[in-house]
Amino acid sequence: MPAQTIPGVTVIDHPLVRVKLTLLRSRETTPAQFRQNLTELATLMAFEVTRSLETRTQEVHTPLAPHAGSQLVKPVVLAPILRAGLGMVEGMLHVLSDASVAHIGIFRNEETHQPQSYYFKAPVCLSDAEVIVTDPMLATGGSAVAAIQTLKEGGASTIRYACLVSCVQGIERLRSVHPDVQIFAAAIDPELNERAYIVPGLGDAGDRYFGTVR
Ligand code: PRP
Ligand code: URA
Repeated sequence: MPAQTIPGVTVIDHPLVRVKLTLLRSRETTPAQFRQNLTELATLMAFEVTRSLETRTQEVHTPLAPHAGSQLVKPVVLAPILRAGLGMVEGMLHVLSDASVAHIGIFRNEETHQPQSYYFKAPVCLSDAEVIVTDPMLATGGSAVAAIQTLKEGGASTIRYACLVSCVQGIERLRSVHPDVQIFAAAIDPELNERAYIVPGLGDAGDRYFGTVR
């Protein structure tokens, strides 16, 4: 099956998404440009990630007449995997201004590539909410699997996962453990290298976003 048609995965193919992702990939891009483009890309992705949110009728009165409009049925919780996932929150909040934010502290051990959890704080509405996990990179999938497990243990039941760059290995891992979670990505890259970095990828997303490149 072609990588772009994996069940449970939506690849957001849009000219602006492709252009901004290209800027993020370029090693010439400065931290300031990286932040700006990551924010803008997250805003664009929010449209597709939220497409299936349920709405109900909301009656309003325009200055001229009553109108049967729409409101979201459930609250939205954005759940960034720290650190790099934070980079997608600001952009998504541009179009989800009422969303709450759950912080999930996980970093990947550089030798074993296993996720290590260090923090979790979620809003009380987690179990009623539409949760959107954000993290720019889905590499081995270990961090995503652990983050979603933490959210489920905290009561979350409706979870979407949004990343920029994914790869088949990470997608398969995440789908095998959490098949209920729809994955949204701007790209599916060909492979992981021996350090479990996505190739071509964009490098270390957290280091590039926060200007901590070694
Ligand atoms: C990166 C990235 C993901 C994880 C992906 O975070 O932001 O969270 O690695 O790798 P995986 O799919 O193999 O688990 P990192 O651990 O570098 O932490 P940071 O965001 O604090 O830099
Ligand atoms: N984490 C990153 O930031 N980039 C990768 O390619 C893999 C893990």
